[in-house]
Amino acid sequence: MDRIEEIKKMIDEKVKNITSLEELNNLKTQFLGKKGVITELSGKIKEVSNELKKDFGMKVNTVKKLFNDKYEEERKRLEEEKINKKLEEEKIDVTLPSTKIPVGAPNILEKLIEEVEEVFMSMGYDVVDGPEIEEDKFNFELLNIPKGHPARDAQDTFYIEDERILLRSQTSPVQVRTMLKYKGEEPVRMICPGKTYRRDDDDATHSHQFMQIEGLLVDKNITLSDLKGTFDVLAKRLFGEDTKTRFRPSYYQFTEPSVETDISCFACHGKGCSICKNTGWITVSGAGMVHPNVLKNCGYDPEEWTGFAFGFGAERLAMLRYGINDLRTFYQTDLRELTNFDRRED
Ligand code: DAH
Repeated sequence: MDRIEEIKKMIDEKVKNITSLEELNNLKTQFLGKKGVITELSGKIKEVSNELKKDFGMKVNTVKKLFNDKYEEERKRLEEEKINKKLEEEKIDVTLPSTKIPVGAPNILEKLIEEVEEVFMSMGYDVVDGPEIEEDKFNFELLNIPKGHPARDAQDTFYIEDERILLRSQTSPVQVRTMLKYKGEEPVRMICPGKTYRRDDDDATHSHQFMQIEGLLVDKNITLSDLKGTFDVLAKRLFGEDTKTRFRPSYYQFTEPSVETDISCFACHGKGCSICKNTGWITVSGAGMVHPNVLKNCGYDPEEWTGFAFGFGAERLAMLRYGINDLRTFYQTDLRELTNFDRRED
């Protein structure tokens, strides 16, 4: 019984001096471990005389409970203390000046393409894709450009395998692919921005790799005035509401009639300047009514279906839109120039 009282005092004293969870756990071993002082007492119950046994047993249990209660209390306190300390250490001073992290931005050529996509998507067009490694069949043959046509000239086209596989020299093959795919699900309405390749020497206005934005609509009763209206919407969205548009006669194998599409010069508004070479007008795309042969090649009866198509040079559009005078600017990695692009937009 004396030992029990002694242990009670020991618990009080020892717990008071605890400063860490580790110490607390060591203490638990000292009291309740295999050779702990309370465990030792429990072992003594069987040695106690019968009349004292009950009382002794109860007292041992009270001591055990006393220790466990103190242990829990202390453990909670120490854990709380630990968390508070951690929070204190990790406190962030939001008033400190921050380091400036440079933020990237999409290339403006990409931005322009997205802008054009949005205009056409709002008119119900799908944005589609096509392969850059293309078959002669799609790039030329089905577009009414027969063997021997100057556009196939090895001077212009990168051939990969004989005369059959090539790097597409225009996005127009996607017209054919789309017409074939959408057969039975007319109207066909698509635009296709994508890379094209030609054996050009790179300079301020030429590149061996450049981007075009192809467009195509095939439905019943489509006329050249639908093309004019559609082009008008795009021109106004890109270059401002007061932009005028006009067609000039032209020639492409896959359209009949064919036109060059012009916008009124946004810089001088028709007075004449260096951008429009004093004509007041700027040519931005080739276009026309889909040639009956092309319709036929894709399984559409030209008596029943008509359509228009157009092809923009994406870099040219972006150069005009953002006042850039060298096409190579889009493909360089000079951050000074590229960050300049962001400012041009304002
Ligand atoms: N593919 C032509 C080129 O690369 C551009 C073009 C002209 C596309 C007229 C068309 C079109 O769809 O109708 O020069």
